[in-house]
Amino acid sequence: MTKQLNAIPTANEKLVKWVQSWVELCKPDAVYWCDGSREEYDRLCNELVESGLAIRLNPAKRPNSLLFRSDPSDVARVEARTFIASKKQEDAGPTNNWIDPVELKKTMTALYDGCMKGRTMYVIPFSMGPVGSNIAKIGVEITDSAYVVINMEIMTRVGTKVLEVLGKDGEFVPCVHSVGKPLAPGESDHGIWPCAPMDKKYIAHFPETREIWSYGSGYGGNALLGKKCLALRIATVQARDEGWMAEHMLILKLTNPKGEVKYVTGAFPSACGKTNLAMLIPTIPGWKVETVGDDIAWMKFDDKGYLRAINPEAGFFGVAPGTSMKSNKNAMLSCAKDTIFTNVALTDDGDVWWEGIGYDAPDHLIDWKGNDWKPGMVDADGKPVKAAHPNARFTARACNCPAIAPEWEDPAGVPISAFLFGGRRPSTLPLIYQAKSWEHGVFIGSTVGSEVTAAALDVKAGTVRRDPFAMLPFCGYNMGDYFKHWLDIGKAGAAKGNLPKIFCVNWFRKNAEGKFMWPGFGDNSRVLAWVFDRCDNAGKYKDTPIGIMPTEDAIDLTGIEDEVSKADLAELLKVDVEGWKNELAMIKEHYKKFAGHLPVELTEQLEELEARLK
Ligand code: GTP
Ligand code: SPV
Ligand code: MN
Repeated sequence: MTKQLNAIPTANEKLVKWVQSWVELCKPDAVYWCDGSREEYDRLCNELVESGLAIRLNPAKRPNSLLFRSDPSDVARVEARTFIASKKQEDAGPTNNWIDPVELKKTMTALYDGCMKGRTMYVIPFSMGPVGSNIAKIGVEITDSAYVVINMEIMTRVGTKVLEVLGKDGEFVPCVHSVGKPLAPGESDHGIWPCAPMDKKYIAHFPETREIWSYGSGYGGNALLGKKCLALRIATVQARDEGWMAEHMLILKLTNPKGEVKYVTGAFPSACGKTNLAMLIPTIPGWKVETVGDDIAWMKFDDKGYLRAINPEAGFFGVAPGTSMKSNKNAMLSCAKDTIFTNVALTDDGDVWWEGIGYDAPDHLIDWKGNDWKPGMVDADGKPVKAAHPNARFTARACNCPAIAPEWEDPAGVPISAFLFGGRRPSTLPLIYQAKSWEHGVFIGSTVGSEVTAAALDVKAGTVRRDPFAMLPFCGYNMGDYFKHWLDIGKAGAAKGNLPKIFCVNWFRKNAEGKFMWPGFGDNSRVLAWVFDRCDNAGKYKDTPIGIMPTEDAIDLTGIEDEVSKADLAELLKVDVEGWKNELAMIKEHYKKFAGHLPVELTEQLEELEARLK
């Protein structure tokens, strides 16, 4: 018999029945409905510490913060085990893994049978977006991981107030999660992160029925189902059907020295700088950046034809390595307290450390695998042993970010003036250029590419892969049709004339010695300033074959002349015709994949670019 730990707090029959059916299948020892209270969060944290799964950090250094070490096999999203199970394979398209939904449900049902034995099933009612906003959506996640519960309580709005909005017959996206490690009677995790072997992991989406089934992983986007699974993969399908946009984009508020405000979003692939740009501290006087969101944007047209964006999340699941007071002070302050750290290193005085934190490692650490670590340690191949995993993350509350914009929870969202696209491109792509038209911008989005990072487990780091709109792993339907949706949004918004302007940026150009040519981070404000002006059709520019570019004197280098010479800037703003010809060949190859689903407008854009480069 499953123990009911608290009273069922809802009269929503569909929800109660749905939970009951999963209790019967998963056979947990107990069921608990989360209320999202502080008391509940603290209690679960204490239980996790007592069980040995979490370490409480020194409250004098990191108040109210925990450290988790995951299983070494469970450290990032697993794209090869992520599935879009639409009825027809064509609807999942060429970029997604597909399994027939009936077959997948059969396989997974067998895995879920008894998978929560010895564990508690937590029921998490959550809102993506401010509770009650007409852009927000409700999900309910059931999970056997208390780690997932506390992360969801930071990343989303959880609990009783969500159930109030849901009411007796409100709609929710059902999300099922299990770590896939049942316990025998009397067995415990012994402080070891529970998960299932790789070939038993499934991150499954059923777009037609708007369901999410996740099994076998406890990490990030695999397990916090409101994030990539709901707010992107399922939401893209809803957005397509309902005429709005669900995008892998940061949202920032940019104020110029005159006090004028514009809101800008940016779509960069995973680990390519969204959190950093969203929290940037400008190095040019008089400018200000505030954060609205750092990973996901949901956008709908208002009656003036502006796309209004909300951040559906309530926290940041940010990359720790490389984050320092110098590179991202606002992120460092966001995770100064009330934070869950995963896979960073532990110092002897109970604080955290990671590569690129901005100061040297102490003489001794416990690394992310729980081993003793000393500076300069090398592995059997002579390579330095990393103290933190490259995809180590902090889960921090948005309200603890000193740069959070006062309007970040405005249910109406903020009106967007510009979209930025970008990735890690060591060559060819200039620091910035602007699309000549919406269609040209969609072409740019559809061809985003990046050197591969550590944010996904199963793709080879170091190579360039195409990641259209930074959505390659996050689009819940045929990517070719998603390109068309972008073109349709352009048509819908064209009449009112308030569509965002579209730009391509590249902070990651390298010189012959392999060094970054652009200082990046706070200095990216120098590029944002040009974007701001271009939104008003101002700013000095020139027309080039690839698009509209700043003249060399349009980017203010005051204060960084030592780092970026005039010649460097000229190189950063050059149209590398040979490189672009190579790029064209790669784009043609990339486009072949979409066959009958590639909109003709994009082929036309490609042909026009080719002609302009001749
Ligand atoms: P996800 O959370 O995976 O979606 O990543 P993200 O897009 O938010 O990336 P994030 O801002 O966390 O940055 C990832 C890595 O890129 C960090 O190690 C940063 O230090 C580094 N980075 C961010 N911005 C810049 C930049 O302007 N220049 C350089 N050189 N590195 C950057
Ligand atoms: C990403 O990989 O883009 C992330 C981290 O933001 S995760 O939540 O794991 O998807
Ligand atoms: Mn992301």
